[in-house]
Amino acid sequence: MQRIKVKSLLSSESAQEEVLLKGWVRTLRDNKAFSFIELNDGSCLANIQVIVDSNLENYADVMHLSTGAAIAVTGKLVESPGKGQKWEVQASGVELIGTAPDDYPLQKKRHTDEYLRTIAHLRPRSNKYGAIFRMRSALSKAIHDFFQERDFKWIHTPIITGSDCEGAGEMFHVTTLDLMNVPKQNGEVNFVEDFFGKEANLTVSGQLSVETFCTSLGDVYTFGPTFRSENSNTSRHMAEFWMIEPEMAFANLQDDMQLGQDFIQYLVRFTMEQCSDDLELFAKFVDKELMSTLDNIANNDFVRLPYTEAIEILQKSSQQFEYEVKWGKDLQSEHERFLTEQHFKQPVIVYDYPKDIKAFYMRLNDDEKTVAAMDILVPAIGEIIGGSQREERYNFLTKRIKELGFDEANYWWYLDTRKYGTVPHAGFGLGFERLLMLVSGISNIRDVIPFPRTPKNLEF
Ligand code: 4AD
Ligand code: MG
Repeated sequence: MQRIKVKSLLSSESAQEEVLLKGWVRTLRDNKAFSFIELNDGSCLANIQVIVDSNLENYADVMHLSTGAAIAVTGKLVESPGKGQKWEVQASGVELIGTAPDDYPLQKKRHTDEYLRTIAHLRPRSNKYGAIFRMRSALSKAIHDFFQERDFKWIHTPIITGSDCEGAGEMFHVTTLDLMNVPKQNGEVNFVEDFFGKEANLTVSGQLSVETFCTSLGDVYTFGPTFRSENSNTSRHMAEFWMIEPEMAFANLQDDMQLGQDFIQYLVRFTMEQCSDDLELFAKFVDKELMSTLDNIANNDFVRLPYTEAIEILQKSSQQFEYEVKWGKDLQSEHERFLTEQHFKQPVIVYDYPKDIKAFYMRLNDDEKTVAAMDILVPAIGEIIGGSQREERYNFLTKRIKELGFDEANYWWYLDTRKYGTVPHAGFGLGFERLLMLVSGISNIRDVIPFPRTPKNLEF
């Protein structure tokens, strides 16, 4: 007999003579005459109630089952007389697959997120973490659907790279050199002897690679893991995270802002329509205002605000900020959150930032002080998207590379795209974990990724 998943069992149209299901015991209540098992197989939030009659030949074993044990149940699917569930299973057989001793770390009571992080290998068996990781999977598909419906091509950009896209140098080295005996030349590490014959790193962004495909396939995107060694232990940063980076050909900053808004609204609506059971849990137990926040995001245009005006609003506000607000300085998360949570009370797209606080590849505006950059800010998180129109003019780009003291030779292939058939193009990066925080109301980024990697933390 084929195993049926609880999710499809619960949406069954009619009773069934015989079903086989397998999963983990959430709770067991035993009676002399029969026992009730709440069984969960991870396919959905809901458990199915299994009723085991004391006549069953291995009933003594069933009575000793405890939370966390794995079992297989055969039986009849019948309408449940009990409240709160349509179906239940009357067991004709219960097979013990894997027992769980009493020290099972995930007991029925409510555990703290901090504790659950220490058992990241078991936390997906809890309601909340099961829900977020099912949503993570569903949204991954929705992301591909969004782009594929719009005829964007998915490009697998490399994870090991020889270039630093953001130019911030917060990269992890990749090397096979013997760390006890590093080859040196003129006092410096001699990377010629390393695996690739040059310095190699884990990528901080697939953007530069995907841009080369944008100038050949047109609209493209990447979706993959990204690595940053910035030593910031915040609730919104990780050393390893997933990023979606679309790049549009023949497009400008306005197009970029529109795509960013459409993308976020699509994913929010998708979550509300397709993940309603899991979402309900978050609205009930994690963030009471989640549904109204999501409604607001899905149904209203985002505010578009030049950086210079954002600075004026922040300076005029009576809010006390820890970090100085001054034209030419980057917005800190407290500033971003003030704009989106208190001032506008909706998502805000800040654009035209001072060139000195943004990456080398962003297109210089006619004022020569600002670049065609845009960040999308959302409540509770701040920056969720960072993007720009790219500098497509060969001379401007080489000038900027020189100004910043980068080695032009390292960018020869990137510059070639500006030399041969250059076109205006624009793109952005959306942090997948920040999106998951937005749609779940979960406030710590460590709780939306299966195995978080943060400074001094590489368990599991
Ligand atoms: O603003 P960022 O650094 O932009 C880029 O990497 C560009 N190359 C993107 C592009 O234009 N193609 O990062 C983009 C987004 C941020 O807005 C944020 O959501 C997320 O990536 N992000 C992080 N998420 C988790 N942990 C970190 N350390 C993150 N750093 C950035
Ligand atoms: Mg950014």
